Amino acid sequence: MRMWSLQNLLFTLCIVLSCVTSAVQVIHSSGYEGREANVSCSYGEGYESYQKYFCKNDCGNDDDVLITTKETKKGRYSIYDDKGRRVFTTTISDLSLTDAGKYWCGVSRSGKDIYTEVRLEVGQDTCCGQSTKVQSYETGSVSFSCPYKSQYQENLKYICRGNQLSTCLQQALVTSDRQQNGQFRLTDEKESRKFTVTITNLTQRDSGSYLCGVRRNTGLDVFLAVEVEVKGCSVGVGECCVKTSKLSGTVGRQVNMQCPYPPQHRGNRKFLCKGDHRNNCTNMVTNGSRFTLQDDVASSSFLVMITELKAGDAGTYWCGSDSQCCANNYTKIQLSVDAAHFHPVVFIVSPILILIIILGIVYRCKYHKVTRTEVTMDRNRTKSAEEEDDVQDDYENQDVVVCSKHGTSKPQCSYNNHDDAVEDQQDSVYQNLSTTEDIY
Ligand SMILES: *[C@@H]1O[C@H](CO)[C@@H](O)[C@H](O)[C@H]1NC(C)=O
Ligand SMILES: *[C@@H]1O[C@H](CO)[C@@H](O)[C@H](O)[C@H]1NC(C)=O
Ligand SMILES: *[C@@H]1O[C@H](CO)[C@@H](O)[C@H](O)[C@H]1NC(C)=O
Ligand SMILES: *[C@@H]1O[C@H](CO)[C@@H](O)[C@H](O)[C@H]1NC(C)=O
Ligand SMILES: *[C@@H]1O[C@H](CO)[C@@H](O)[C@H](O)[C@H]1NC(C)=O
Repeated sequence: MRMWSLQNLLFTLCIVLSCVTSAVQVIHSSGYEGREANVSCSYGEGYESYQKYFCKNDCGNDDDVLITTKETKKGRYSIYDDKGRRVFTTTISDLSLTDAGKYWCGVSRSGKDIYTEVRLEVGQDTCCGQSTKVQSYETGSVSFSCPYKSQYQENLKYICRGNQLSTCLQQALVTSDRQQNGQFRLTDEKESRKFTVTITNLTQRDSGSYLCGVRRNTGLDVFLAVEVEVKGCSVGVGECCVKTSKLSGTVGRQVNMQCPYPPQHRGNRKFLCKGDHRNNCTNMVTNGSRFTLQDDVASSSFLVMITELKAGDAGTYWCGSDSQCCANNYTKIQLSVDAAHFHPVVFIVSPILILIIILGIVYRCKYHKVTRTEVTMDRNRTKSAEEEDDVQDDYENQDVVVCSKHGTSKPQCSYNNHDDAVEDQQDSVYQNLSTTEDIY
């Protein structure tokens, strides 16, 4: 009775132990469609010289045996027995989704063979149906977050370019172990169960597909697809945050440009640059240049003043509240410069006036008679005619300055600007008049 119990106990123990052993001994392997998977099975001491094999189903008949260590390669299967480590590895190449399932590693011996269960997982090599889309602009930066399940908090995170899962880890741009690599940065925020990737210094070449990956200890890694679109700065003019306006000025005069900016940018550096492309335009505001900026925080805009316009000042200008491309708002201004209208008048009128004056002096000297009145009247008349001409010219110009944005959908003719412009223009009228008088 007692003996039986002991036997019974041992038997039960055996079953329990063998259960535990077999539970531990399920080998997990995985691979991607078209790629290969390795299945490594270890065996006990003393079995080095025994024959090993890899089989499927219940391994009952010869068809179930896929490859044995008697051969090294058979179809898509190859096998290698590392007797030193007591591990034999079966490689299955050109995987297909139907290869997924249950297999066995076997060691032949007299009596019952030793079996180890194998589970093979096969996944598609491309990701993953739908993808997250993010957008940014050249020279700017872009960030995206890749959420993951809480059980992966401690696992390796990585990103790669493209859409191929099998090579993603090998070609990772950054990983949670190597968080910064050139323009790429990866920050793992474990508490919020996501990692964030930032790409700085964007160029259009950075557009395309990316994969967020989480390394799993068993089984295939988990992935999320992200599509990044980097818009060019000169592309998207009008679509984005670029306002375009046309402006014209006159050689020798002053021209003012209005550059609005979002109120939240009031602390940012303001810029004005010239060039056909925003990404490589030349800064125009340097000490002592004819270009000055005057910030007006109250109206969320700044005024660009160009004095003593030259014909060469014509061209495309960009102004805004940050040096970064159209990730921030900026204004594009096309400036044309007209030749001065009044110069020919001055040049034609002046010699005549000088001639008249000389004639007058000569006349006065010769005859010692006071006949100046006529000449002075003539001169006054010419001057006022000129003045009228100038004023008219200024009004023309002022129209352009003030309502220069008729090219855009929303013309902005602010009264403040109008007053400023009128003042400025009047200043220059007086300047012009004194110039004209200097000639006398
Ligand atoms: C399988 O093992 C071979 C030999 O060790 C190795 O070269 C190969 O990269 C492995 N393949 C996979 C998918 O791990
Ligand atoms: C940004 O890119 C340019 C050109 O590719 C390079 O010269 C510059 O060093 C980069 N800057 C940073 C911060 O990566
Ligand atoms: C400026 O950039 C544009 C495109 O972004 C390019 O076509 C042009 O050649 C560049 N000009 C200079 C002077 O680098
Ligand atoms: C312009 O002058 C100011 C002070 O006069 C100086 O602080 C600044 O660095 C100068 N900027 C340049 C671009 O020379
Ligand atoms: C651009 O300006 C618009 C309206 O003026 C504003 O709503 C938007 O936030 C600005 N964009 C940036 C990036 O500052």
